[in-house]
Amino acid sequence: MSVTFMEPQLHSPVLLKETLEALNLSKGSRIIDGTVGTGGHTYAILEAITPGGQILGIDTDPEALSIAKKRLARFEEAITLVHGNFSTLKGIAELNDFVPVQGILLDLGMSSLQLSSSRGFSFQGASPLDMRFNPEQDISAGDLVNTATENELFRIIHEYGEEPLAKKIVKSIIDHRPITDTGRLVQAIEKVYGNFRGHLHPATKTFQALRIATNQELENLHYFLPQAVNILDKGGRLVVISYHSLEDKIVKTFLSRESRDCVCPPVVIECVCHHSATLKSVNKKVIRPKPEEVFINHRSRSARLRIAEKL
Ligand SMILES: C[S@@+](CC[C@H](N)C(=O)[O-])C[C@H]1O[C@@H](n2cnc3c(N)ncnc32)[C@H](O)[C@@H]1O
Repeated sequence: MSVTFMEPQLHSPVLLKETLEALNLSKGSRIIDGTVGTGGHTYAILEAITPGGQILGIDTDPEALSIAKKRLARFEEAITLVHGNFSTLKGIAELNDFVPVQGILLDLGMSSLQLSSSRGFSFQGASPLDMRFNPEQDISAGDLVNTATENELFRIIHEYGEEPLAKKIVKSIIDHRPITDTGRLVQAIEKVYGNFRGHLHPATKTFQALRIATNQELENLHYFLPQAVNILDKGGRLVVISYHSLEDKIVKTFLSRESRDCVCPPVVIECVCHHSATLKSVNKKVIRPKPEEVFINHRSRSARLRIAEKL
């Protein structure tokens, strides 16, 4: 399949060629893009499925959606954009008369638009410590950092950030409260790392952890997966690009379970679960970006793509 998407881009869609192939698109397909962002993948999918095809595009960030809307204007007839959370995928799809579908895509994490915004995702400069994908959500990263207990903050930074110095960082954060902006949070982290000269900024892991917790990213993925299987047509494809080992583990475990007829624990001699496989994995090995892509788009370096087909 040739990829003709050459528009100026705010966010370079990761693993674009691989994603288009994974979705097994044809003219007339109905596809859900659960993470439209600024529309990079969506644009290329629309080129492949129109005329005749339709996309339901979802994003929880209204700012991203309004950019996507302008960028995708030439496909106006073929696209429905919804401000919503993919954790309620089935409801959104039913409400928009979009069941069943031949493909569902999730491209997880944040976009370059969000990273370069002044919404607290970046540790460069000082901006309000917000980090909400959806500004209508109640709790921001600032609320979390200033009100969570020491144990809760440790769990977040240790588990989601895989930060080896989580314990010391949490103590420093508590000493630096109130944390009024990203600059103050960076100060608290730098206090622990001292004159750090590695290639990864010492705040990287803590910022990632707080973003994941603020947006309940892992919980949303858990809710999404069974709903996606439910609304896929027979032979339809589920395609997920993740950027964090915990996200990929959730997807891998789900696909492996849904690819088996019996999911009883090994100690059970005769099946009692009566589970039937709903999916088959299309790629046994996870798909990673080629070095050429990582060279051009550094953000793609941690991407992992998994594909499954509805039985
Ligand atoms: C990596 S970006 C997607 C980029 C997009 N594929 C493109 O090519 O422009 C991830 C997007 O997912 C959105 N997002 C994250 N969690 C979400 C959720 N639970 N529901 C809906 N959108 C979500 C973010 O707001 C962000 O715009």
